[in-house]
Amino acid sequence: MSQFAFEGTEEQERELKAFISAKKGERGCLMPVLHEANRIYGYLPAEVQTMIADELDIPLAEVYGVATFYSQFSLMPKGKHRISVCLGTACYVKGADKVLSAVEKELRISCGEVTPDRKFSLDSCRCVGACGLAPVMIVDDEVYGRLTEKQVKAVLDKYIKE
Ligand code: FES
Repeated sequence: MSQFAFEGTEEQERELKAFISAKKGERGCLMPVLHEANRIYGYLPAEVQTMIADELDIPLAEVYGVATFYSQFSLMPKGKHRISVCLGTACYVKGADKVLSAVEKELRISCGEVTPDRKFSLDSCRCVGACGLAPVMIVDDEVYGRLTEKQVKAVLDKYIKE
């Protein structure tokens, strides 16, 4: 269960239900429905998965299974700033795990979590094609390369202080 209360609005629910009723009965409609739900809510909490299961008349376990299988779906809300530390091979051998640990320590969350104020969410990713800059961390659309664990605090402070 998420540590965050579900804050979906009636308008979001109406929008999702309209999409579902247009798709219901089509083969393979669960994926587009999950994509649309993810677009509307930004993530797929239990409440939204239940709504989808009810509206499509399918077991909740099926919705949950697909939602957790694909990495583009998240069951947790994302932060205002999305941090992603690359753990691809080139970054890893240059100490990306230490960078990730430094971010976890600084924000007091683990990879895959979001801070209680929802300002930051933290994930890892595979090679983002910037191996020459390893180790790489991305905050929103900003790429920080050749990062050391000591520089992490200064990078995060920029966002904390804004
Ligand atoms: S392994 Fe990190 S950018 Fe390629």
